[in-house]
Amino acid sequence: MNIPFHRPDLPSDFNEIATESIQNGWLTTGKQVELFEHELATFLDVKHVVVVNSCTAALHLGLASQKFAPGSKFLVPNYTFVSTVECGEYIGMIPRLVDSAPDGFNIDLNQVEDMLKRETDIKAILPVHYGGIPVDMNAIFSLADQYNLFVLEDAAHALETVSNAGKVGNTNHGAAFSFYANKNLTTLGEGGAFATNNEVLAQSIKNLSLHGITKDGWKRFDSGAKWEYDIIDLGYKYNMPDMSASFGRWQLKQVNHWQTLRHAIVKQYVNGLKNLDGIRIPSYVPGDGNAWHLFVIQFKNTNWRLSRNEFIDELIKKGIGVSVHYKPIHMLDYYHKKLGYKSDDFPRSKDLFESVISLPLYPSLTQDELEYIISTIHELFEQYSV
Ligand SMILES: Cc1ncc(COP(=O)(O)O)c(C=O)c1O
Repeated sequence: MNIPFHRPDLPSDFNEIATESIQNGWLTTGKQVELFEHELATFLDVKHVVVVNSCTAALHLGLASQKFAPGSKFLVPNYTFVSTVECGEYIGMIPRLVDSAPDGFNIDLNQVEDMLKRETDIKAILPVHYGGIPVDMNAIFSLADQYNLFVLEDAAHALETVSNAGKVGNTNHGAAFSFYANKNLTTLGEGGAFATNNEVLAQSIKNLSLHGITKDGWKRFDSGAKWEYDIIDLGYKYNMPDMSASFGRWQLKQVNHWQTLRHAIVKQYVNGLKNLDGIRIPSYVPGDGNAWHLFVIQFKNTNWRLSRNEFIDELIKKGIGVSVHYKPIHMLDYYHKKLGYKSDDFPRSKDLFESVISLPLYPSLTQDELEYIISTIHELFEQYSV
């Protein structure tokens, strides 16, 4: 078998996404983007959505919109993808890394509170809903009120996540979503969105996403529209093309169904792997708000005669595509040199990094493929257990 780590869902006929505006030659930001933004806002139960060309862009715009002075700090989990950290550095802010909670993947709120008590100049916090697992947002919002923080959720994995504060995205602060190729929804490989209930913030994100311009191309060149525009801020070029939005609209119609399929796959993984001593598996708790972007198992070193990396090599040899989410920020060369951390400074992230393996999880994973993955892991354990 050859099972990729991710397999995207494509329309059987690309005419399904070649809408009237596209057939008429409108490829960049236009009507499809407007429609996609409305549909996403309905899906997320939020007042405003601005779509852009990546989650990284949405995160950058979220912080840029706040006009924080260079040198101000933001709290960010160490166990994340680099985007969550670099977005603040783009505007001269200083990242303050926080380890994962002792029993989980998401940011440790006790450490967050300690840092807020000890340090000055912390202006924002960027919680990440790792793999779709909801962060305790009630606690984050309460700390934000107390310490006057801007909360920018990295919701790259969290399109369908529901936290204890409600649907992720339905926030008076901001949330950034990713529509990268392997995410629960993709807009032709690249894309992102910023969601907020705050109208002034949404308008500012919209302006900044396209040069700080008062009118986008669609508004200037659509029939009957005027060419005139002005630039009212230093902006960026982060807009989403209509072709991508059209693809995203096609995917969005299926996201609820796909979510049901993801749950079914997760339940089978959990049942199929629960009696295996060599790995720790996530628990499946119906209604816990997890979007199940990732299914991450943890390799228990002491139970095997091979290392986690050798185990990954064995899976790959058997045709199973897997991944590791993530190499923690403090162990990446640039940050290691820049921030001077030692590998043991974030013990929980280090432990996660050395043990995790993300298994294939996507709607088109077949029953045969799923059973093959589960039985292969069992066979490897029989072969290599201590
Ligand atoms: C946690 C997290 N944040 C941000 C991003 C960046 O998303 P994008 O590629 O859409 O910029 C990713 C991408 O994989 C991610 O995993």
